[in-house]
Amino acid sequence: MKPFRLRTLGLERQNKKKGRENVSDAFVTPGGATLSAGQYDGMVREAHTNPEVFWLQQARRLTWQTPPTQASRSDFTQDVRIEWYADGFLNASENCLDRHVRTQPEKTALIWEGQEAGQREVLSYRHLYERVCRLANVLRRLGVKKGDCVAIHLPMVAEGIIAMLACARVGAVHVVLFGGFSAEGLAERLTDSAAVVVLTADVARRGGKRIPSKTTMDEAIARCGAASAVRHVLVVPVTGADVPMQPGRDLRYAEEVAKEAADCPAERMNALDPLFLLYTSGSTGRPKGLVHGTGGYLTWAAFTHAVVFDYKPDDIFWCTADVSWITGHTYVVYGPLANGATIMVYEGLPSWPEPGQWWDVIDRNGVTVFYTSPTVVRAAMREDEAVVRSRSLKSLRILGTVGEPISPEAWHWFHDEVGKGHCAVVDTWWQTETGGVMITAAAGCVVPRPGAAARPLPGVEAVLLDTQGKEVAGAGEGLLCMAQSWPGQAMSIWGDHDRFRQTYFTTCPGHYFTGDGARREEDGYYWITGRVDDVVNVSGHRIGTAEIEDAIATDHEVVESAAVGIPHDLKGQGLVVFVVPREQDVFHPSAVNTAVAAGVGRYAVPEKIYVVRDLPKTRSGKIVRRLLRKIASHDLEGLGDLSTLADPDIVGELIATVKAQE
Ligand code: WT7
Repeated sequence: MKPFRLRTLGLERQNKKKGRENVSDAFVTPGGATLSAGQYDGMVREAHTNPEVFWLQQARRLTWQTPPTQASRSDFTQDVRIEWYADGFLNASENCLDRHVRTQPEKTALIWEGQEAGQREVLSYRHLYERVCRLANVLRRLGVKKGDCVAIHLPMVAEGIIAMLACARVGAVHVVLFGGFSAEGLAERLTDSAAVVVLTADVARRGGKRIPSKTTMDEAIARCGAASAVRHVLVVPVTGADVPMQPGRDLRYAEEVAKEAADCPAERMNALDPLFLLYTSGSTGRPKGLVHGTGGYLTWAAFTHAVVFDYKPDDIFWCTADVSWITGHTYVVYGPLANGATIMVYEGLPSWPEPGQWWDVIDRNGVTVFYTSPTVVRAAMREDEAVVRSRSLKSLRILGTVGEPISPEAWHWFHDEVGKGHCAVVDTWWQTETGGVMITAAAGCVVPRPGAAARPLPGVEAVLLDTQGKEVAGAGEGLLCMAQSWPGQAMSIWGDHDRFRQTYFTTCPGHYFTGDGARREEDGYYWITGRVDDVVNVSGHRIGTAEIEDAIATDHEVVESAAVGIPHDLKGQGLVVFVVPREQDVFHPSAVNTAVAAGVGRYAVPEKIYVVRDLPKTRSGKIVRRLLRKIASHDLEGLGDLSTLADPDIVGELIATVKAQE
């Protein structure tokens, strides 16, 4: 059995000590839940015993041009096939717009607030529809065809959401790229996706900082060289800054959309046609472009948004994630808009120019559902309690978190201080690969247990396997896998289905392997114990250690390096790098930061850098990361048998190096 890192187990003990493992007042949501706990359990049973019927029924949440007659023909064996609603046809943007324009055109679809005081825009479904159509017409005019990739590189402005829906409308596959990627990081993804059009901002704002989106994109496209398929760059004016425009290639967004009509026929899409690619990190250096299909993904987005967050039509739903993450795709855009909800989008940071900004957004707009990350909660906990206590927050009824485990301390603070003791709190475990929430205490239906991810949603056939691939029965611990497909499951890795099969379906044959370890209680509650592969989770950002090491390797003064994650009070995990330079005396650790910032992006710059003579390796040359993790986190007990190392002396040296930098 692999030695899992059992971070959450300590938390669980903490809970038990305080006698508050179950929080029943958080189970009841004000106004009453749409689904009763009994009905929810019924759904779990139905989805388990009769998945075909259940998922065909759930697909009716959407409007289909041709309704599917079959739910799944997925298969986790052999070549691996993830196929949902294969004979159905639909358009995602029609589902998020047209059908609501028909029934409730004046309902607010989107409330946007900029980070500068007073910047606010309210778009009805009709407004949003018109803006999406204008851009969709621009894309068609620029020659974008069904199946082409379009890259979206925008901060949290309405145009980001409009661009996603416009792509969906014309059948283009959107690839949303994080604003924090370096030019090299962008170039890698532009080349892999072969994007033909890019939308970028002139300059993006992040608190007091300015991010030169357009010039970074110019550099990225230049780096792609002959491999670039980019024909046009549409520049969205965010700050209005003057930026260089390449004649013929670069176009001004505002001018282009003004030329177009506010109507645009939607492309007829097969349920299996890709809706988007989203790059994420794994245990190798190359980022993977996960492919999400149209029918299954959208069904899952609508289903989970409704069930997990107990959706009610008058909700103001605020998911604080950036649209460049899967959370933003599913719970800023597709889930809520497919359900005809009102979404809140805020460009600014929680505490800029001063703490309490997000609480003010909630009060000003009457936000009812607030979905954020444990990192945000932890940061808010450190502020003066007057900040949160001076806000009303009475509109809230459901609070959610995602991205990393939430400690019981943070859970209770969130519940007591933000929820003022009367909101349901839902932790949600899921991944880019799963498309939407998988394990959670669905609001009003499942009793939460602070620190636990809780229970699999209907249709989620979670299992725990030991390292021999044997299923763990009842209470126990193991590798978290899925025994059956679910509609939100990613279909492939762009251009490399075999890598998809190898990455997810060979560790535990016949199962989807999540990369996480988990523990299950007797009564079926899951506790996520964290990644068992070389992926680090810094503030909910998923970072592959191999990506970091590859970036560092571009520095010729470096022989080799190892990046590991260690526990971090604020960020959940922090990234630490051990680097072996060619010449220890002349090497400056800042070279590591420079290489990571250039190769990956500033967001991935490590917390600490240790310059060392060598790394601990087995005799066969494999780096023993477990030792590095323990040494870097000052956890020197139980280092294990060091005699199997090629050079046991290195351990003492590493410990001394880490101590010296304390
Ligand atoms: C990894 C997936 C899902 C959108 C955001 C992250 C970790 C995610 C939780 C949670 C404990 C969590 C897992 C997972 N994770 N949510 N509620 N409790 N761990 O998506 O970037 O694909 O990362 O984040 O380790 O595998 P992602």
